[in-house]
Amino acid sequence: MAARGVGRLTCLPLCSQRSSRVLRSISRHLSCPGTVAAKVRNEEQPPRGAKTGFEDRTLKKRFSEVQKERREQAQRTVLIHCPNNINEKKFLKYLSQHGPINNHFFYESIGLYAVVEFCQKDSINSLQNGTHTPSLSTEATIPFKSRFLNLKLKNPSNQISEQSFAHTNNQLPPSSKKLFELLNYAESIDDQLNTLLNAFQLTEENVRLRHLTCSLIEDIAAAYFPGCVIWPFGSSVNTFGKLGCDLDMFLDLDEVGKLNVHKNTGNFLMEFQVKNVPSERIATQKILSVIGECLDNFGPGCVGVQKILNARCPLVRFSHQASGFQCDLTANNSIALKSSELLYIYGSLDSRVRALVFSVRCWARAHSLTSSIPGAWITNFSLTVMVIFFLQRRSPPILPTLDSLKSLAELLLKEFFEYYGNFAFNKNSINIRQGKEQNKPDSSPLYIQNPFETSLNISKNVSQNQLQKFVELARDSAWILEQKEKNQPSPSSRQPWGLAALLMPPGPHHTSLSRKKKKKPMSEKVKGLLATIKSNSTDSFAGTPGKRTISTKA
Ligand code: GTP
Ligand code: MG
Repeated sequence: MAARGVGRLTCLPLCSQRSSRVLRSISRHLSCPGTVAAKVRNEEQPPRGAKTGFEDRTLKKRFSEVQKERREQAQRTVLIHCPNNINEKKFLKYLSQHGPINNHFFYESIGLYAVVEFCQKDSINSLQNGTHTPSLSTEATIPFKSRFLNLKLKNPSNQISEQSFAHTNNQLPPSSKKLFELLNYAESIDDQLNTLLNAFQLTEENVRLRHLTCSLIEDIAAAYFPGCVIWPFGSSVNTFGKLGCDLDMFLDLDEVGKLNVHKNTGNFLMEFQVKNVPSERIATQKILSVIGECLDNFGPGCVGVQKILNARCPLVRFSHQASGFQCDLTANNSIALKSSELLYIYGSLDSRVRALVFSVRCWARAHSLTSSIPGAWITNFSLTVMVIFFLQRRSPPILPTLDSLKSLAELLLKEFFEYYGNFAFNKNSINIRQGKEQNKPDSSPLYIQNPFETSLNISKNVSQNQLQKFVELARDSAWILEQKEKNQPSPSSRQPWGLAALLMPPGPHHTSLSRKKKKKPMSEKVKGLLATIKSNSTDSFAGTPGKRTISTKA
């Protein structure tokens, strides 16, 4: 069943929701508990989805403020690989020798890990001072001292007997089977949209882990550039991230200069002697190349490091094994941080924005309109901008009548598909800076103006075929949603309906549906699709392997 609170919010007019949000108590986040025992008692986890990385209190704050707070929190935090049979109370007691602990959680990746946030940064030094560099008999080690640690039990049998194992926090999206069950038991498409949002959005713990991972990488980069900052950007921080999405990072060297600006007083200006290179791009490539080497050679848990320096935006890609994140590290990319802030602001204006974006993203992924591999497909970023543009263009965007409020939220998804199913992509571009359609300045199939670099198209990569596929699926999906109003099956029938029907990935019937599109009228084609979905419903709903499983990867 969908979260009722969120469902009700979706029925409020766009502009009134901001003022109606209630600030939650922030004492839990600011206070340090007195005792470890009290801490363990208080660490009961709320139900999945009840607590997220983007609570109301967070949304009230400026983006930069939130990012600074998170960074500071991450700097007081360590990541510890633990034995599977760890006793939570003993573990916390052991660590609290180094100072009070503010927050902790365990999660499973390849092994068991603990994220432990101390109240004070000094505790980290104390902990590191008492930490050994392992000596291996067969291999040599690189004695790099980071905040990613390994805990071993001195006497494993003692710990097992107490049977007080750590409770683990889930970092993965729900299985497709679970998702379809949740969606089918919702009461309306509005409920389904919010169910999907609650199931996929980043949790508070996942957000902490993302900031901690950036902080660990920052320690490595700081070996070359003391005072640098590594900021997360993209869907990790713009409130549109799905569990499992990649971690985009930006190495900010401007912060280095800012630290000392106030000392430059008097008649002289002191500058560093530096090496000059012909362009900013070359400077970025050189810096990323060196950091990439460092990650590869010294970064604990950083594997599969690839330097992709000739890309339009040079980057270093790697996997951070312990957190499970696929990371993209860029530099000289402050525009991307601005785009993240812009999306964050749009996402916090109205809860329906995020619910709609999540559904559209999941729909696009289920139909392979988006992919984790770069190519001619629409990106999640472009899709999000398209949703924002649609909401800007929707009429009326504000203060609908009371009668229309209830159906408004579920109408949005259908209208989104109708809007883009009929959009004049051949001549018009999407421009969220001005909120209006404009003539396309070039012949790219899909033209979405970059809001900050207005001469650029953020969807330049998208091919005519991919756009055509998007438009056809949007039209079909609008039709399917319209049928729901006339003909909604009961939950006990276990037939996918509404959003669940939209998320069914294409089967063989779907390909032929698209190919035959030009010959048959729309309604017949979609009726054919629905009939196939219904006839397959029981098996496919249970996620038959290899046939109708939806991808849960962002
Ligand atoms: P997912 O990772 O797919 O969940 O979404 P994302 O928004 O993080 O997208 P992605 O990882 O592809 O890109 C990260 C961020 O880079 C985006 O959120 C944008 O801020 C920025 N970005 C991506 N593509 C473009 C582009 O074509 N132009 C510009 N200016 N920025 C882009
Ligand atoms: Mg991303």
